[in-house]
Amino acid sequence: MLTLPGLIDTHVHLREPGATHKEDWETGTAAALAGGFTLVLAMPNTSPPIVDADSFRLSEESASRKVHCDYGIYLGATQTNAAAILPLWQRAAGLKMYLDATYGPLLLDDMQIWARHLRFWTKGRPIVAHAERRTLAALLFLAETYQRPVHIAHVSRKEEIWLIREAKARGVPVTCEVTPHHLFLTEKSGSGGKFDVRPRLASQEDVDALWENLDVIDSFATDHAPHTLAEKESETPPPGFPGLETALPLLLTAVHDGRLSLEDLIEKMYTNPRRIFNLPEQVQTWVEVDETAHYELRASEQFTKCGWTPFEGWRVRGRVTRVVLRGKEVFRDGEILSPPGFGYNIRTWQYEEEEELEPGECWL
Ligand code: NCD
Ligand code: ZN
Ligand code: ZN
Repeated sequence: MLTLPGLIDTHVHLREPGATHKEDWETGTAAALAGGFTLVLAMPNTSPPIVDADSFRLSEESASRKVHCDYGIYLGATQTNAAAILPLWQRAAGLKMYLDATYGPLLLDDMQIWARHLRFWTKGRPIVAHAERRTLAALLFLAETYQRPVHIAHVSRKEEIWLIREAKARGVPVTCEVTPHHLFLTEKSGSGGKFDVRPRLASQEDVDALWENLDVIDSFATDHAPHTLAEKESETPPPGFPGLETALPLLLTAVHDGRLSLEDLIEKMYTNPRRIFNLPEQVQTWVEVDETAHYELRASEQFTKCGWTPFEGWRVRGRVTRVVLRGKEVFRDGEILSPPGFGYNIRTWQYEEEEELEPGECWL
């Protein structure tokens, strides 16, 4: 048996409020525990989007009654909210900026607005950006100009990982994450709406570049973006893949195959997310894995509501058998044991080791 720290996924879409037929706080956090994650940070492209005090409170209230594991909630950047969201910074997981078109209503086109968010938002909380190709180059320029750290979501292309390597080498304050689907799938893996995702699945050359630059990749994040099978097979398929329950077995299979070390996996799924996102330690928390389990991934065995996976039938190694969160057994042999509402919001729960900000670090 292998014991891992409680894994952290800093990029999930749990769809509540507004699209609870795709996922909700209960099913999404059940899927997290089944996948070995004890802490998830939820994205703000819900309906309504989480962009002000009222929507933030609505999200916090439903989450607090329903979550099976610990969590945080992002605020979304809009054209006009850079100043108005500042009083909420302490309760937020971080600020999410959508700089390229994707699912949901949040999109910022004007670089002066990007700059305003980079300058206003507190250094005590991360900024995560959806920024592909040249959008990424423009954002890195601003991050350097204002010396404001940014974390790049779901890097997927050779030119992007190259750009981030170059930027890091020159001291630009940037970190980045990669998703399992961009590591294991290419544009040839499937066609049609079901395989539509942002960023799009890339070429073999792009995928190879990600594996060759694992040292540039700070973290793995699932970008768990559930849409129902009916929606994915419709005339207008929304982009996105579920990922919480397939990430760890896929990555443990890569460890078994010698493509990744176990130390790398722990660094990118626990140590680095904790450091980059300034997350508290979850005491007495661990994940037990049967390393020898060899089986096929099946959507029918998942807790996510969406009812499918792009990895259906993939043979993997390593099964989560037990999860202990803050001293309580919360998952065992396929069963969720923590009641809804068990999870803490890691930003509002008073952990003793929570670091205080230095005066001036916050723009309030
Ligand atoms: C995400 C979603 O469905 O919310 N979709 C996706 O294809 N990744 C949005 C996003 O993360 O860009
Ligand atoms: Zn995105
Ligand atoms: Zn996403």
